[in-house]
Amino acid sequence: MCGIVGYLGNRQAVPVLLDGLRRLEYRGYDSAGVAIVNPQGLAVVRAVGKLDNLTQATTDEPLVGCLGIGHTRWATHGRPNQRNAHPHRSGPIAVVHNGIIENHLELKAQLIASGVKFESDTDTEIVAHLVDQHWSKLTDVGKAEERLLQAVQLSLAQLRGAYALAILCEEAPDALIVAKNASPLVLGIGNEEVICASDIPALLNYTRDVIFLEDGEVALLTRGAVNIKDSSGNAVERSPQRIAWSPVQAEKGGYKHFMLKEIFEQPRAIEDTLRGRFSLETGEVVASELGIPVEIARNVDRVYFVACGTSYHASLAGRHWIEQLARLPSQAELASEVRYRAPVFTERDLIVAVSQSGETADTLAAVQSAQAQGAKVLALTNVLDSAIARIADGAFYTHAGPEIGVASTKAFTTQLVAMLLLATFLVQEREVLSKDASKKILGDLVEVPSLMRRCLSIRSEVQDVAKRWHQTEHMLFLGRGLGFPLALEGALKLKEISYAHAEGYAAGEMKHGPIALIDEEMPVVVIAPQDSNYEKTLSNLQEVKARDGQVLAIATEGDQQMKSLTEDIMVIPNCSELVMPLLASVPLQLLAYYTADFKGTDVDQPRNLAKTVTVE
Ligand code: G6P
Repeated sequence: MCGIVGYLGNRQAVPVLLDGLRRLEYRGYDSAGVAIVNPQGLAVVRAVGKLDNLTQATTDEPLVGCLGIGHTRWATHGRPNQRNAHPHRSGPIAVVHNGIIENHLELKAQLIASGVKFESDTDTEIVAHLVDQHWSKLTDVGKAEERLLQAVQLSLAQLRGAYALAILCEEAPDALIVAKNASPLVLGIGNEEVICASDIPALLNYTRDVIFLEDGEVALLTRGAVNIKDSSGNAVERSPQRIAWSPVQAEKGGYKHFMLKEIFEQPRAIEDTLRGRFSLETGEVVASELGIPVEIARNVDRVYFVACGTSYHASLAGRHWIEQLARLPSQAELASEVRYRAPVFTERDLIVAVSQSGETADTLAAVQSAQAQGAKVLALTNVLDSAIARIADGAFYTHAGPEIGVASTKAFTTQLVAMLLLATFLVQEREVLSKDASKKILGDLVEVPSLMRRCLSIRSEVQDVAKRWHQTEHMLFLGRGLGFPLALEGALKLKEISYAHAEGYAAGEMKHGPIALIDEEMPVVVIAPQDSNYEKTLSNLQEVKARDGQVLAIATEGDQQMKSLTEDIMVIPNCSELVMPLLASVPLQLLAYYTADFKGTDVDQPRNLAKTVTVE
């Protein structure tokens, strides 16, 4: 998501910050800014749009000084405009932030009650005000650096959520404070200089010696020293490590492709999408986070998903959950088809427009046609203030962060998470299930990131399967129930990036056509976790084997029966049936990825495809 850079040393800070921000551009952003401390005080310059605009602004208003912080903002709270761009300032304090402060509404109310005036709609501005308030009270701490560190520590104790922060104060010209919880932050240690950033590429022009800050830590950086404290205030000793990556490798976090990096980012993206959206203790989903007024949720008669591509596949799973959990009629439709049919909508329909980019032309058109008939529209998107989010009646944002690889991975799984939250919210408002049942669904969701990390740990097994099969020209994917949308998505991933011909089918449809394709040459990926469809899917698998077809199975860990049926097995951990699609997505993504990688195709930018399709 956002990019942070901070510098303290003997060089002019602005060029270092701009260079660092440029190397973090891949993270995606819609505005940028810098703050510099010099003997005249603190100066902040911010600009909407590309970094060239900020560069121009810093040329128009030259900023001199060797201490500074910079930021590229990818909006999550508040529109992408200059007012909301970072750094945010309060008195002598300036702050840049990457992450989401979960208790921002509560803290904002307290700050307003104490007389603070807010200038932006961001959650970040809270941090600037909190540090400023503590700074003002700590007048008995003599040394400015120590006073600033204490002010930050006291503020952090009030925050809940994810943050990487860089903070400076015009009255402490030899101190840069950084803190981290859940969002990334790395420190570069140079000669009499220190630079901090969200990611390594921003540091490599200055040093290769880095220290990774851990969750809960805060550090006081001065020209000659790095003083790290843990969340209890104890000193932490950590030596720098040397980075051997090239700048291009570093941008991909050491991964060969953005797609692989994004596959591995999924546990974190899911944590970000879940954060602050519900309480596990009460089993309540927070209505304001989902963008649907409670009256709409209570009075809706049907949930109608419209989407394209991967978002359509997520919608098919969404439909399943809405029917199963909220017991509401639900449909998932291709936006490109809906817009040219004569669909019937009513005022009691909730249209969920699912689009990672929020810009897809067909989805936008389908939304307009539903709105014309009085239906209410919820945008489910990854991009704040995108076209679909703007015209919808409400917006529910996934927090996957920018996705660079054209083939969608983390945007897809965070959409699935959002749909499960939506279903749980409808359950809650319509009182379809008990509070305990809602708690159980939310509890299952909370477990997903760690289960997904386990799925990712079997990457080499999937790589072996891909190695055996990467030369195949055709592949069939079969799944039943929630496995069906996954079969479609697995096939789409494979064809998008490896150019192999792949088809996804509902397993029960096999006898109605695809079975004619089965011979010893035809690999069939069967999504067969041990869920309520297991026995039936197993029969389909036997039918494939009986015709000498080759089975590649996505199966539950420890499934001995499956092991005896095929050596091409990709396991997922035992999990609740509801969240299975989130986990089974991982081997499917990795299978497509490694197949493409073995074939040597352009994984991140496959031929003929675009990330955002703004024409029909
Ligand atoms: C393009 C992208 C896909 C995406 C589809 C729908 O084809 O390459 O990854 O699934 O558009 O995009 P949307 O932004 O509406 O989800």
